Amino acid sequence: MLRFKGKTVLLTGAATGIGRAAALRLTSEGAAVYAVDRNAEELKDTEAVVAEGGAGQIITRVADVSDETSVIDVVADAVGELGGIDVLANVAGVHKTTPIDELSVRDFQGLIDVNLMGTFLFCREAMPHLRKSRGVVINIASTSATHAHPFMAAYAATKGAVLAFSLSLAAEVSADGVRVVAISPGGVVTPLMTGVAFPETVDSSFYSRIQPQLGFGDPAAIAGTIAYAASEDGAFLTGVELRVDGGSHV
Ligand SMILES: NC(=O)c1ccc[n+]([C@@H]2O[C@H](COP(=O)([O-])OP(=O)(O)OC[C@H]3O[C@@H](n4cnc5c(N)ncnc54)[C@H](O)[C@@H]3O)[C@@H](O)[C@H]2O)c1
Repeated sequence: MLRFKGKTVLLTGAATGIGRAAALRLTSEGAAVYAVDRNAEELKDTEAVVAEGGAGQIITRVADVSDETSVIDVVADAVGELGGIDVLANVAGVHKTTPIDELSVRDFQGLIDVNLMGTFLFCREAMPHLRKSRGVVINIASTSATHAHPFMAAYAATKGAVLAFSLSLAAEVSADGVRVVAISPGGVVTPLMTGVAFPETVDSSFYSRIQPQLGFGDPAAIAGTIAYAASEDGAFLTGVELRVDGGSHV
């Protein structure tokens, strides 16, 4: 399948996990991917892995998605390098589990800055180019956006905001031919998930009840959904949340 032959993708969070899997999947389907992450070392590894087997091409750029000036520069550079943007995939994200009593303004703000503001900044800067290409925005939310996950209230709030932002943005830009799809993964084995540490007081029976029925996910499964939603196969999708969680909340 070469659904992205001749297509250009601006992808954030490409150094590890779901973002790296998306870089692999999209390039292997022919896309030229401009891959952004703040983790320079892991981003180099993504570049190497893609170069080994990809049918498409990858350009990497180290940047912080929460920094407005950087995002303006990154989007301009991506357009210069790729000639336009057909797909914007906002995958970069951070996570934290903290009891409410210990949740600092700084930590909460840090989650908002990356998960929500980073997504917003890339959408705003890329939108003129997406209007030209009648392109697609994929925003990664989470099952935490719509389901209760104790000790994750701050993370959940940012992901709920990403989902709400995506649905309203879809309605705003659909007349321009731009589609916006939110994808909400459940538990996927990535550095973000394996780094989750619960407070000692956590009632672990809660989390055992909401484990994916199919077992924890592979990042490639989410990458496949990103590719589907961003491709012509997803041409009738917009203003929708695709929950891809192995049945964790059935
Ligand atoms: N893994 C899961 O179970 C799960 C579940 C639901 C949602 N998600 C979401 O999926 C997305 C990808 O996460 P993942 O699980 O692959 O984790 P990950 O930690 O492997 O990937 C996140 C990437 O974002 C990058 N990043 C973080 N802050 C950044 C910043 N300020 N600027 C640039 N890059 C930054 C990291 O360096 C990393 O490469 C995130 O938005 C996450 O919230 C993950």
